[in-house]
Amino acid sequence: MQLDETAAPGKVGMPANVAIIMDGNGRWAQRRGLPRSAGHLAGVNRLREIVRTASNLGLRSLTVFAFSTENWRRPDYEVQVLMRLFRRFVVREVDELDQMRARVRFIGQRDRLPADLRRTMAQLEMRTARNPGLVLQIAVSYGSRAELLDAMRAIAAETAEGRLDPEAITEETIARHLWTAGVGDPDLVIRTSGEMRISNFLLWQSAYAEYAFVEECWPDFTPERFREVLEDFAARERRFGAVSAAV
Ligand code: IPE
Ligand code: IPE
Ligand code: MG
Repeated sequence: MQLDETAAPGKVGMPANVAIIMDGNGRWAQRRGLPRSAGHLAGVNRLREIVRTASNLGLRSLTVFAFSTENWRRPDYEVQVLMRLFRRFVVREVDELDQMRARVRFIGQRDRLPADLRRTMAQLEMRTARNPGLVLQIAVSYGSRAELLDAMRAIAAETAEGRLDPEAITEETIARHLWTAGVGDPDLVIRTSGEMRISNFLLWQSAYAEYAFVEECWPDFTPERFREVLEDFAARERRFGAVSAAV
Protein backbone atom coordinates (compact mmCIF):
# COMPACT_ATOMS: atom_id res chain seq x y z
CA MET A 1 0.00 0.00 0.00
CA GLN A 2 1.58 3.28 -1.10
CA LEU A 3 1.07 6.57 0.66
CA ASP A 4 -1.04 8.07 -2.09
CA GLU A 5 -4.61 8.83 -3.09
CA THR A 6 -5.32 5.14 -3.67
CA ALA A 7 -4.92 4.47 0.07
CA ALA A 8 -8.54 4.83 1.07
CA PRO A 9 -9.75 4.64 4.67
CA GLY A 10 -11.81 1.69 5.80
CA LYS A 11 -11.63 -1.92 6.85
CA VAL A 12 -9.30 -3.69 4.52
CA GLY A 13 -9.84 -7.41 4.98
CA MET A 14 -6.89 -9.74 4.83
CA PRO A 15 -3.50 -8.12 4.32
CA ALA A 16 -1.78 -8.69 0.97
CA ASN A 17 1.75 -7.91 2.10
CA VAL A 18 2.99 -9.10 5.47
CA ALA A 19 6.39 -8.73 7.12
CA ILE A 20 7.66 -10.57 10.18
CA ILE A 21 10.47 -9.83 12.61
CA MET A 22 11.22 -13.38 13.71
CA ASP A 23 12.48 -12.67 17.21
CA GLY A 24 12.97 -14.72 20.37
CA ASN A 25 14.82 -17.86 19.24
CA GLY A 26 17.48 -17.44 21.91
CA ARG A 27 15.02 -16.92 24.77
CA TRP A 28 12.88 -19.83 23.56
CA ALA A 29 15.95 -22.10 23.87
CA GLN A 30 17.23 -20.66 27.13
CA ARG A 31 13.86 -21.22 28.80
CA ARG A 32 14.18 -24.88 27.91
CA GLY A 33 17.76 -25.16 29.10
CA LEU A 34 18.94 -25.53 25.50
CA PRO A 35 21.73 -23.71 23.65
CA ARG A 36 20.68 -20.70 21.56
CA SER A 37 21.49 -22.68 18.42
CA ALA A 38 18.61 -25.05 19.25
CA GLY A 39 16.30 -22.04 19.19
CA HIS A 40 17.57 -21.02 15.78
CA LEU A 41 16.99 -24.54 14.47
CA ALA A 42 13.43 -24.53 15.83
CA GLY A 43 13.01 -21.10 14.25
CA VAL A 44 13.94 -22.37 10.79
CA ASN A 45 11.39 -25.18 11.09
CA ARG A 46 8.78 -22.63 12.08
CA LEU A 47 9.64 -20.47 9.11
CA ARG A 48 9.02 -23.38 6.76
CA GLU A 49 5.49 -23.80 8.16
CA ILE A 50 4.64 -20.10 8.15
CA VAL A 51 5.75 -19.76 4.53
CA ARG A 52 3.48 -22.63 3.57
CA THR A 53 0.58 -21.02 5.46
CA ALA A 54 1.19 -17.65 3.79
CA SER A 55 1.19 -19.33 0.40
CA ASN A 56 -2.01 -21.29 1.14
CA LEU A 57 -3.75 -18.14 2.35
CA GLY A 58 -2.89 -16.40 -0.90
CA LEU A 59 -0.78 -13.56 0.52
CA ARG A 60 0.96 -11.57 -2.19
CA SER A 61 4.22 -11.22 -0.29
CA LEU A 62 5.86 -12.30 2.93
CA THR A 63 9.04 -10.54 4.06
CA VAL A 64 10.94 -12.17 6.90
CA PHE A 65 13.77 -10.63 8.91
CA ALA A 66 16.33 -13.41 9.29
CA PHE A 67 19.57 -11.56 10.08
CA SER A 68 20.18 -7.85 10.57
CA THR A 69 23.17 -5.62 9.83
CA GLU A 70 23.45 -5.33 13.62
CA ASN A 71 23.45 -9.11 14.14
CA TRP A 72 27.08 -9.21 12.89
CA ARG A 73 27.88 -8.02 16.42
CA ARG A 74 26.97 -11.41 17.84
CA PRO A 75 29.70 -13.90 18.82
CA ASP A 76 31.39 -15.57 15.81
CA TYR A 77 30.05 -18.93 16.83
CA GLU A 78 26.43 -17.79 16.74
CA VAL A 79 26.90 -16.02 13.40
CA GLN A 80 28.35 -19.24 11.98
CA VAL A 81 25.44 -21.30 13.27
CA LEU A 82 22.99 -18.88 11.69
CA MET A 83 24.82 -18.90 8.34
CA ARG A 84 24.92 -22.69 8.35
CA LEU A 85 21.20 -22.97 9.10
CA PHE A 86 20.45 -20.37 6.51
CA ARG A 87 22.46 -22.20 3.85
CA ARG A 88 20.67 -25.43 4.70
CA PHE A 89 17.28 -23.75 4.43
CA VAL A 90 18.12 -22.33 1.01
CA VAL A 91 19.37 -25.70 -0.27
CA ARG A 92 16.62 -27.87 1.19
CA GLU A 93 13.61 -25.72 0.46
CA VAL A 94 14.23 -25.18 -3.25
CA ASP A 95 11.89 -27.90 -4.46
CA GLU A 96 9.08 -27.18 -2.05
CA LEU A 97 9.19 -23.42 -2.67
CA ASP A 98 9.18 -24.03 -6.40
CA GLN A 99 6.28 -26.47 -6.09
CA MET A 100 4.19 -23.91 -4.22
CA ARG A 101 5.03 -21.50 -7.09
CA ALA A 102 6.67 -19.06 -4.69
CA ARG A 103 9.15 -16.50 -5.96
CA VAL A 104 12.08 -16.01 -3.61
CA ARG A 105 14.28 -12.96 -3.39
CA PHE A 106 16.90 -11.94 -0.88
CA ILE A 107 17.30 -8.40 0.40
CA GLY A 108 20.34 -7.17 2.29
CA GLN A 109 24.09 -6.72 1.96
CA ARG A 110 25.03 -9.74 -0.14
CA ASP A 111 28.69 -8.84 -0.31
CA ARG A 112 29.07 -9.55 3.41
CA LEU A 113 27.92 -13.17 2.98
CA PRO A 114 30.18 -16.13 2.13
CA ALA A 115 30.61 -16.65 -1.63
CA ASP A 116 29.16 -20.18 -1.75
CA LEU A 117 26.07 -19.00 0.12
CA ARG A 118 25.64 -16.13 -2.34
CA ARG A 119 25.77 -18.60 -5.21
CA THR A 120 23.14 -20.84 -3.61
CA MET A 121 20.92 -17.82 -3.00
CA ALA A 122 21.26 -16.71 -6.62
CA GLN A 123 20.33 -20.22 -7.81
CA LEU A 124 17.17 -20.24 -5.70
CA GLU A 125 16.21 -16.80 -7.00
CA MET A 126 16.77 -17.84 -10.61
CA ARG A 127 14.93 -21.12 -10.25
CA THR A 128 11.82 -19.40 -8.83
CA ALA A 129 12.07 -16.09 -10.70
CA ARG A 130 9.07 -16.69 -12.93
CA ASN A 131 6.76 -18.20 -10.33
CA PRO A 132 3.44 -16.38 -10.04
CA GLY A 133 2.66 -17.21 -6.39
CA LEU A 134 3.76 -15.80 -3.03
CA VAL A 135 6.75 -13.46 -3.16
CA LEU A 136 8.99 -14.54 -0.31
CA GLN A 137 11.54 -11.87 0.61
CA ILE A 138 14.23 -13.04 2.99
CA ALA A 139 16.13 -10.23 4.69
CA VAL A 140 19.69 -11.28 5.45
CA SER A 141 22.33 -8.80 6.58
CA TYR A 142 19.48 -6.38 6.12
CA GLY A 143 19.26 -2.94 7.69
CA SER A 144 16.85 -0.26 6.63
CA ARG A 145 19.37 2.55 7.03
CA ALA A 146 21.96 0.69 4.96
CA GLU A 147 19.29 0.19 2.30
CA LEU A 148 18.35 3.89 2.32
CA LEU A 149 22.01 4.88 2.21
CA ASP A 150 22.52 2.66 -0.84
CA ALA A 151 19.49 4.20 -2.53
CA MET A 152 20.62 7.75 -1.75
CA ARG A 153 24.10 7.07 -3.14
CA ALA A 154 22.64 5.64 -6.35
CA ILE A 155 20.27 8.57 -6.76
CA ALA A 156 23.08 11.06 -6.03
CA ALA A 157 25.28 9.38 -8.65
CA GLU A 158 22.55 9.58 -11.27
CA THR A 159 22.03 13.22 -10.43
CA ALA A 160 25.76 14.02 -10.57
CA GLU A 161 26.01 12.36 -13.97
CA GLY A 162 23.15 14.47 -15.20
CA ARG A 163 20.88 11.49 -15.78
CA LEU A 164 18.38 12.56 -13.15
CA ASP A 165 16.99 16.02 -12.46
CA PRO A 166 16.76 16.59 -8.67
CA GLU A 167 13.37 18.21 -9.23
CA ALA A 168 12.18 14.98 -10.84
CA ILE A 169 12.92 12.84 -7.76
CA THR A 170 9.69 11.52 -6.29
CA GLU A 171 8.76 9.04 -3.57
CA GLU A 172 8.47 6.50 -6.37
CA THR A 173 12.11 7.20 -7.39
CA ILE A 174 13.22 6.37 -3.86
CA ALA A 175 11.08 3.22 -3.66
CA ARG A 176 12.55 2.03 -6.97
CA HIS A 177 16.08 2.28 -5.60
CA LEU A 178 15.40 0.25 -2.47
CA TRP A 179 16.26 -3.48 -2.30
CA THR A 180 12.52 -4.14 -2.00
CA ALA A 181 11.77 -2.45 -5.37
CA GLY A 182 8.71 -3.89 -7.04
CA VAL A 183 7.29 -5.58 -3.94
CA GLY A 184 4.36 -3.96 -2.16
CA ASP A 185 4.87 -2.15 1.13
CA PRO A 186 3.82 -4.21 4.16
CA ASP A 187 0.22 -3.80 5.26
CA LEU A 188 1.08 -5.56 8.48
CA VAL A 189 4.36 -6.00 10.38
CA ILE A 190 4.41 -8.71 13.04
CA ARG A 191 7.10 -8.98 15.71
CA THR A 192 7.26 -11.99 17.99
CA SER A 193 8.75 -12.35 21.49
CA GLY A 194 7.04 -9.36 23.09
CA GLU A 195 9.68 -6.79 22.08
CA MET A 196 8.17 -3.53 20.90
CA ARG A 197 10.71 -2.05 18.56
CA ILE A 198 11.49 -1.99 14.85
CA SER A 199 15.23 -2.78 15.02
CA ASN A 200 16.01 -1.09 11.69
CA PHE A 201 13.47 -3.07 9.61
CA LEU A 202 11.68 -1.62 6.53
CA LEU A 203 11.58 1.95 7.86
CA TRP A 204 10.56 3.59 4.58
CA GLN A 205 8.25 0.78 3.49
CA SER A 206 6.37 0.57 6.81
CA ALA A 207 5.44 4.26 7.01
CA TYR A 208 1.75 3.31 7.18
CA ALA A 209 1.88 -0.34 8.15
CA GLU A 210 -0.20 -1.75 10.96
CA TYR A 211 1.84 -3.44 13.70
CA ALA A 212 1.19 -6.57 15.71
CA PHE A 213 3.44 -7.33 18.66
CA VAL A 214 2.84 -10.85 19.88
CA GLU A 215 4.12 -12.45 23.07
CA GLU A 216 5.12 -15.83 21.64
CA CYS A 217 8.75 -16.40 20.79
CA TRP A 218 9.25 -17.15 17.11
CA PRO A 219 9.56 -20.97 17.48
CA ASP A 220 6.15 -20.93 19.25
CA PHE A 221 4.41 -18.84 16.57
CA THR A 222 2.09 -21.46 15.08
CA PRO A 223 0.16 -21.22 11.80
CA GLU A 224 -3.04 -20.98 13.93
CA ARG A 225 -1.63 -18.00 15.80
CA PHE A 226 -0.54 -16.46 12.49
CA ARG A 227 -4.10 -16.75 11.17
CA GLU A 228 -5.45 -15.13 14.33
CA VAL A 229 -3.13 -12.16 13.90
CA LEU A 230 -4.21 -11.78 10.27
CA GLU A 231 -7.88 -11.90 11.27
CA ASP A 232 -7.27 -9.28 13.92
CA PHE A 233 -5.73 -7.09 11.23
CA ALA A 234 -8.75 -7.58 8.99
CA ALA A 235 -10.99 -6.08 11.68
CA ARG A 236 -8.92 -2.91 12.07
CA GLU A 237 -9.76 0.34 10.36
CA ARG A 238 -6.98 2.04 8.42
CA ARG A 239 -7.51 5.75 7.90
CA PHE A 240 -4.29 6.95 6.19
CA GLY A 241 -4.75 10.38 7.74
CA ALA A 242 -8.29 10.78 6.43
CA VAL A 243 -11.45 10.69 8.51
CA SER A 244 -13.16 7.42 9.33
CA ALA A 245 -15.12 5.90 6.48
CA ALA A 246 -17.96 5.46 9.00
CA VAL A 247 -18.28 9.23 9.56
C1 IPE B 1 15.88 -14.02 16.38
O1 IPE B 1 16.05 -14.55 17.66
C2 IPE B 1 16.88 -14.55 15.38
C3 IPE B 1 17.90 -13.56 14.99
C4 IPE B 1 17.96 -12.31 15.38
C5 IPE B 1 18.94 -14.01 14.08
P1 IPE B 1 17.15 -13.98 18.65
O2 IPE B 1 18.43 -14.70 18.41
O3 IPE B 1 17.24 -12.52 18.58
O4 IPE B 1 16.55 -14.43 20.04
P2 IPE B 1 16.49 -13.58 21.37
O5 IPE B 1 15.85 -12.26 21.02
O6 IPE B 1 17.89 -13.41 21.82
O7 IPE B 1 15.66 -14.36 22.30
C1 IPE C 1 15.83 -8.26 14.99
O1 IPE C 1 16.01 -9.02 16.14
C2 IPE C 1 16.48 -8.93 13.83
C3 IPE C 1 15.93 -10.24 13.45
C4 IPE C 1 14.87 -10.79 13.94
C5 IPE C 1 16.66 -10.92 12.42
P1 IPE C 1 17.19 -8.71 17.18
O2 IPE C 1 17.02 -9.66 18.30
O3 IPE C 1 18.49 -8.68 16.49
O4 IPE C 1 16.84 -7.21 17.60
P2 IPE C 1 17.16 -6.42 18.96
O5 IPE C 1 18.61 -6.62 19.25
O6 IPE C 1 16.29 -7.00 20.00
O7 IPE C 1 16.80 -5.01 18.62
MG1 MG D 1 16.29 -10.97 19.51
